[in-house]
Amino acid sequence: VEFNLTAQRQQVDLGGAAPTDMFLYNGQLPGPTIEATEGDWLVVHFTNNLPEPTNIHWHGLVFPPDQDGVPMDVVPPAGKRDYAFRVLPGSAGTYWYHPHPMGLTTMQVAKGLAGAIRIKAKADPLPAALGDTLVLLSDLRLDAQGQIPPSTTMDKMNGREGDIQLINGQRPPVLPLSLGESRRLRIIDASAARYYRLQARDARMVQVGTDGGLLAAPVERSELLLVPGARAEVILTPTGPNAALFNLPYDRGVMAMSTPGSGTMGHGSHMMPDGTMMTMAASGAAIPLLQLVPTGPPVTAVTLPAILRPIAPLPLAGAFERPIVLTEDMMNLDFRINGQTFKADRIDFQVTRGQTEIWRLENKGDMDHPFHVHGVQFQVLDRDGVAVTPLAWQDTVNVRKGDVVRIAIRFEHYTGLRPFHCHILEHEEQGMMGQVEVKE
Ligand code: C2O
Ligand code: CU
Ligand code: CU
Repeated sequence: VEFNLTAQRQQVDLGGAAPTDMFLYNGQLPGPTIEATEGDWLVVHFTNNLPEPTNIHWHGLVFPPDQDGVPMDVVPPAGKRDYAFRVLPGSAGTYWYHPHPMGLTTMQVAKGLAGAIRIKAKADPLPAALGDTLVLLSDLRLDAQGQIPPSTTMDKMNGREGDIQLINGQRPPVLPLSLGESRRLRIIDASAARYYRLQARDARMVQVGTDGGLLAAPVERSELLLVPGARAEVILTPTGPNAALFNLPYDRGVMAMSTPGSGTMGHGSHMMPDGTMMTMAASGAAIPLLQLVPTGPPVTAVTLPAILRPIAPLPLAGAFERPIVLTEDMMNLDFRINGQTFKADRIDFQVTRGQTEIWRLENKGDMDHPFHVHGVQFQVLDRDGVAVTPLAWQDTVNVRKGDVVRIAIRFEHYTGLRPFHCHILEHEEQGMMGQVEVKE
């Protein structure tokens, strides 16, 4: 399957004071959805019409490193390149694409560059009657002139959040769905830093998939935490008249400027180089994200299959346990992995293709960090010693402040360099990124 993608600068009327200067794929917010079936060859003809370098990263898919838009592998302004790779059998699921150029990623995503990828199964266990709706979550910040302002120092610390929350580029979104009618949603957190603690009200939410496709069996959820970069597939069924999907407050440890003399330096407080003190910020209110609006009379719910697909645990016998420690250096606005900030010419460690390792992710900072690895799907084993269930394929996992999360990871198919990083894009750009080399 072939697609043409052009990143272009465009003036869009968003109802602000003036048309907003945006960066868009093919002039669309979000970019066009890329659809393929597992086993297909995917070819993307890419043109960069931006005034600055960019590239495309295929978040979550397993494909050769030389087809990945990684920080140093960019397309110059007016440049073109083709990305081509096979979508591996068994990889049916929800993915997304976004730019990844060194030092420019956050602002390019903030200006609108992101799109969904839907990889369909050869044989899908979920009934077609559930439909298939993409829900791409992003946010936008506009200044008084209706423009997308550059990141502030606070953004560099906390990650950049926009106050306007969008679903598929729209606000406020509604989904026509009758009482009892079930709909399959593929939810993508494509925002640069925003966490979504999703809660269905007057509706039933059943999770059927994660980053790397379906779970082994459906799981009923009262809440679901989606972190930047991550995806979830859910079946949503309205059970009452005010059915909606809400985003609840979640404390990920963001800092705010504290008024002088308002308290003592405690855990979670930082003195900045200019003497201002930062403390944990209070989180906001529950926000209705998606309203489910009945279109017809109540219907009978579709019965979900009890089993979706087999997920085999990665073999752990003899697996090397690799410590990966996340730290924050607020004085220098550095975010580090194993004590170091990212260097493009440094390989942080090597792994052998086909060998399972356990990565022990330890967050010694005061903020949550969503840890992501390119070109692989891993399994989360435990969090602070407590087993994580059910078994699932993920490429992004939240490491909460103080947590130790262990993941089983195996690069099965390709050798080469793979970045791993915090998916709060400002943290990635402030150093919280490394590279693993997969050797034969
Ligand atoms: Cu969506 Cu390097 O990540
Ligand atoms: Cu990625
Ligand atoms: Cu982070």
